[in-house]
Amino acid sequence: MRRRTSTIATGLALLLLSAVSMAVDSREVVDQDVAKPTIRGGIVFKNYCTLCHGQRGDGMSRAAQLYQGVNLAIKPRTNEYYEKIIRGGGQVAGVSPYMPPWQDELSEEQVHDVVTYLTVLSDSVRRGEVVYKTNCVLCHGVKADGKGRASVLFNPPPADLAHSDKDEQYKESIIRHGGASMGRSGSMPAWGERLSDAEMKDLLAYLQKILVAPSGPPDDSKINGK
Ligand code: HEC
Ligand code: HEC
Repeated sequence: MRRRTSTIATGLALLLLSAVSMAVDSREVVDQDVAKPTIRGGIVFKNYCTLCHGQRGDGMSRAAQLYQGVNLAIKPRTNEYYEKIIRGGGQVAGVSPYMPPWQDELSEEQVHDVVTYLTVLSDSVRRGEVVYKTNCVLCHGVKADGKGRASVLFNPPPADLAHSDKDEQYKESIIRHGGASMGRSGSMPAWGERLSDAEMKDLLAYLQKILVAPSGPPDDSKINGK
């Protein structure tokens, strides 16, 4: 009798486990999502361009003091113009030569990706999406539903951020200082040292945007994937 019950229990546990792992992001889903030009371009921008242009492309950067009198803000322009100045530098566009040419440093694909990113650069939610996709998907999932590829490793599991009932202040605290600081799981890391204030703001704007109304169906169209 005893053995029977435990067999049933084991069977049930296995069933549950497979149901859970089935819902977890597949590798293809993650690869596809992170391969979007806006996401890849956001990573290029962060690595090569923020130093001078700032995280928001508004020219508020560490290097700004070195280029006094030069406006480092990136304005809305045609993609052709962006491509030309990125490949050939300021000289070919008739602006400050302190804008370096990138054609030897970046691949064709990286240039294309970063140009695509420039077209969404002024949108805080789209910038926040890059912050989310490059730091949080492994646990919280590409849909922010808590079903990231590593989610099965954690108990309690990563929170479903698309259905979070926490306000912005709470979210900022737990993201900055980590789960343990809020009496929650220490598996939720502290990001305060790794994210700038600008990135944190953008991230919160993204988390706000992807919230699914408690009653309504999930709305994928909110984050239109380019
Ligand atoms: C060493 C500093 C520096 C770095 C790094 C840098 N830029 Fe620039 N960028 C400049 C300067 C200086 C200008 C010219 C500003 C002016 O004279 O109007 C400029 C101008 C631009 C413009 C034209 C802005 C406009 O509205 O006309 C674009 C677009 C641009 N950069 C994109 C990028 C991209 C993309 C990257 C990263 C791959 C990058 N820059 C990296 C310094 C830099
Ligand atoms: C290593 C896995 C892991 C990573 C990476 C991670 N988290 Fe978490 N996160 C968790 C876990 C686990 C919880 C649930 C803690 C609990 O319930 O005690 C959590 C909880 C949260 C919560 C609380 C939400 C709520 O409704 O209570 C927020 C907000 C959050 N994470 C945001 C983020 C953001 C933003 C990132 C990326 C910058 C991130 N997390 C990266 C594991 C992770």
